[in-house]
Amino acid sequence: MALIERPRLARSLRLGLLIAALIATVLGALAWLQVRDEREIDLKDVTLRAEALAQQIAPTAEGALALSNPEARKALRGRLDGYGRLLGYAVFRPDGELVAAGSSVLDFADRMAPVARKAAVTGRQASSMTQSQGIPIYALAVPLKDSKGASSGVLAVAHDVSFIDGRATGRLVQYGFGIGVVTLLTVILVVAATWFTYERPLHRLADWMRRLRTESSAGSPPPGLPSSLLLHESDRLAASFRAARRADRQLSQAAVRAEEVWTAERLRVQAVTALGQNRQLVVVSNREPYMHQVEEGKVQMIVPAGGLVAALDPVLQACGGVWIAHGSGDADRETVDAHGRVMVPPEDPHYTLKRVWLTREEEQGYYYGFANEGLWPLCHLAHERPLFRAADWDYYRMANERFARAVLDEVGTDRAMVLVQDYQLALVPRILKEARPGLRVGLFWHIPWPNPEAFRICPFGKSILAGMLGADLVGFHLQQYCNNFLETVDRLMESRLDWDHFAVELKGHASEVLPFPISVQNWDERNVPAGAALAEQIAAFKARYKLGDTYIAVGVDRVDYTKGLPERFRAIDRFLEKYPRYLGRFTFVELGAPSRTHIPRYRDHMARLEALVDEINWKHQTDDWKPIHFLATHHDVSTVHAFLCMAPMCIVSSLHDGMNLVAKEYVEAKAGGDGVLVLSEFAGAARELSDALIINPYDTEQFAEAIRRGVEMGADERRERMERMFRTVEEHNVYRWAAAFITRLAATRVDEASADDGPAASGQIV
Ligand code: F6P
Repeated sequence: MALIERPRLARSLRLGLLIAALIATVLGALAWLQVRDEREIDLKDVTLRAEALAQQIAPTAEGALALSNPEARKALRGRLDGYGRLLGYAVFRPDGELVAAGSSVLDFADRMAPVARKAAVTGRQASSMTQSQGIPIYALAVPLKDSKGASSGVLAVAHDVSFIDGRATGRLVQYGFGIGVVTLLTVILVVAATWFTYERPLHRLADWMRRLRTESSAGSPPPGLPSSLLLHESDRLAASFRAARRADRQLSQAAVRAEEVWTAERLRVQAVTALGQNRQLVVVSNREPYMHQVEEGKVQMIVPAGGLVAALDPVLQACGGVWIAHGSGDADRETVDAHGRVMVPPEDPHYTLKRVWLTREEEQGYYYGFANEGLWPLCHLAHERPLFRAADWDYYRMANERFARAVLDEVGTDRAMVLVQDYQLALVPRILKEARPGLRVGLFWHIPWPNPEAFRICPFGKSILAGMLGADLVGFHLQQYCNNFLETVDRLMESRLDWDHFAVELKGHASEVLPFPISVQNWDERNVPAGAALAEQIAAFKARYKLGDTYIAVGVDRVDYTKGLPERFRAIDRFLEKYPRYLGRFTFVELGAPSRTHIPRYRDHMARLEALVDEINWKHQTDDWKPIHFLATHHDVSTVHAFLCMAPMCIVSSLHDGMNLVAKEYVEAKAGGDGVLVLSEFAGAARELSDALIINPYDTEQFAEAIRRGVEMGADERRERMERMFRTVEEHNVYRWAAAFITRLAATRVDEASADDGPAASGQIV
């Protein structure tokens, strides 16, 4: 304790001394001026007195000066002696010759001769200071005149003025003492004030923060903090900690309860319990899980790339229900019934896909425009400027209405739990709630949420937030995104925030805001080759791309500027430059699914990537080897699986990514075996997969070094790391994610009775 406090006391002391020194300097200067003035007044008093005395004796002295010196001395005898501070007089001829002087003046009378001469010459009185036996003497010389008015001599009056210096010194001592007391009091006051106002509260705050970090019951922030902002922020910090702890406790309690890993069946049972009687499950998203396209004259079914579909399809397959999404495939209309419905997956139907139709203009304005040229770059910190056009916003609102209407048509007057997905449908929760307050509405945001400063540039930000806060539960991947979201709401909306429960109340409706890190399902459950069939498939790919027995690293991405593909290619280039021993022995395969290609920025990005790959390949390639295979086309699930299985390394280098499920799919593909994951610190997955080689994609040297480290990592270390990551993903799989979200949503306070009451008045949300 003493060790901690000494430097802080010294700091207050230094501050006190500095302030006291300033005060003492000013007071000292004032005291000096005061003493100087008083000294002058005293001297003036002596002068007046000397003048009066000189006037009294002047006639006698003038008479005496008419005589010879001996006669004059006789005439003046006994008249020139002083008393008290008046030492006496001396009489001089105009040339300074001493005529007569009092007995106490004789010793130093010759030293008064110069001032006497000066008075005689100027005809005006003059004064001087001299000393005799250490005593300061003040001499006033007054010119004398004869009967004709001519200068006849000088009368000098001598006073002992030691009392003036004595008085000045006394004053200085008094003032010095006063200044000393003020200085001391100032030091004490400053030390006490800083101690009680800053040092002690900050010390308590530090102590409280330490307890908050290390103990479970740290209580409220300490009282007396110097700023209300600090108190406010500390309160939030504590609330975040408590919420995180609670979530952690809940998770670990769930883990204790979970004797086995979450499965599709377990989720189904849990969902049935959470949904209760007669409540259906509806998922609504922009992207559909199955898309029908005409290829080579035939209708083909494809599963679109992206985390949303990968995560939600197994959930719907487990729980059943309806998935409402935009029918964007060119053969989608041909494959649905009169209500736009089709059962999926086509080969083993488990749930209903209901397609929503949008015109080309609507798709352009809502999806390509507002969602992907506006909100997408706004939420991802990838240095891409968001574009907000008023016309796009109108389409966005219209399309959101359309999706919401489709949900309302689907549920009719039934009870339902609606899971709204992602940034394309931010307005849907509020539209649903306004129409049917009794619906249980959850919104899951699959991408990051930026900080309030970044978000507030969106001209339609408040409407987006109001739309989202129609949901009873808003989910993000990470606690950090929840914090950012609540901060944003706090800054932009007139709402009530409950940081302890991570809830917002807007116009009487409460929304909980919680993290639910999304995940994947086990590859065993997916319809992909295994065993010998998988080995054959891998051999075929190796032959087709002439991969031989080189070390294979793989990347699987939608071709998007947030995925860090140029950074990845440059790191591979640098790796080969630095370690030429890997030329011909290391191959990187990028399975890049073209995405949002109607947006110029995406088209440019694709063109630049192809040019960059060409450049790097040209630099290093040989006749039978090239370092990068950029396979820019749609890849089905089975191809992705085969590449993930064959590659001893997977690289994820997102510049910013909500979660990134490819990282988790790779870990699942390795099933606890051998493999190295190189993972960007800016992907949400990095929080859970800390055994990956974590890189900053902007740091090419570090990135290249991580690739070398991964290639050269020993088998034991590879297995240990992969084993730990596998356990994490297995335990936190997508079924657990969905169970957690659905269970939480089922527990939110919704007055479902109002479901039977028909639409609420506009803006009236229960
Ligand atoms: O990650 C955000 C996201 O919208 C996901 O929800 C989806 O999986 C992915 O991007 C694909 O985007 P799109 O639907 O535009 O192809």
